[in-house]
Amino acid sequence: MSKVFVFDHPLIQHKLTYIRDKSTGTKEFRELVDEVAALMAFEITRELPLQEVTVETPVGPAKSMTIAGKKLGLVPILRAGLGMVDGILRLIPAAKVGHVGLYRDPETLQPVEYYVKLPADVEEREFIVIDPMLATGGSAVEAIHSLKKRGAKTIKLMCLIAAPEGVEVVKEAHPDVDIYLAALDEKLNEKGYIVPGLGDAGDRLFGTK
Ligand code: PRP
Ligand code: URA
Repeated sequence: MSKVFVFDHPLIQHKLTYIRDKSTGTKEFRELVDEVAALMAFEITRELPLQEVTVETPVGPAKSMTIAGKKLGLVPILRAGLGMVDGILRLIPAAKVGHVGLYRDPETLQPVEYYVKLPADVEEREFIVIDPMLATGGSAVEAIHSLKKRGAKTIKLMCLIAAPEGVEVVKEAHPDVDIYLAALDEKLNEKGYIVPGLGDAGDRLFGTK
């Protein structure tokens, strides 16, 4: 069964407060999402396997560590997932980036896929699917399904804010996928928005409303 982690690091929680604040403008919102994504990447990579190597320092040989294991792939769900990519890449610059384009039909709330492009070596990579919002869970379930269909074997899901309903839907559909959050909120409202959440993540990131 999927494990769910909520990162309680004070910097993440502090910045999330300003991300939620409706008086935070587009520029600051974008910067904060970028910063929180980097901090979450720091936490999510805590368990990466290490291997010992020998490096020559100016004083002599040192046994030291480098990251071992599978290479990483980031997959932002368009649009809003894009706001988290650069922050993560600052810490993991060698990660490759795939894209899954989905939008949520405003009437049915069902995800509609319009674009998928993944790294060629999809089977060799460990993927992190990223999206600020996990609401009904439909978009995340569909994006993960899309990756698995193309051969992805190891997938994590990283979101800023989730509703309990969405977490349950992902756990049910993809029990092998662990979920990493900055906050688990109270509920969904009748329009499928997370309460209290932060509103529409795509619109706030890109200034489209
Ligand atoms: C938002 C958000 C998620 C999705 C979450 O995207 O970024 O992808 O909704 O909702 P769900 O869990 O109920 O599927 P949206 O569909 O608004 O598209 P956009 O990013 O292009 O604005
Ligand atoms: N998508 C968003 O951007 N916000 C929500 O609260 C739910 C879905």
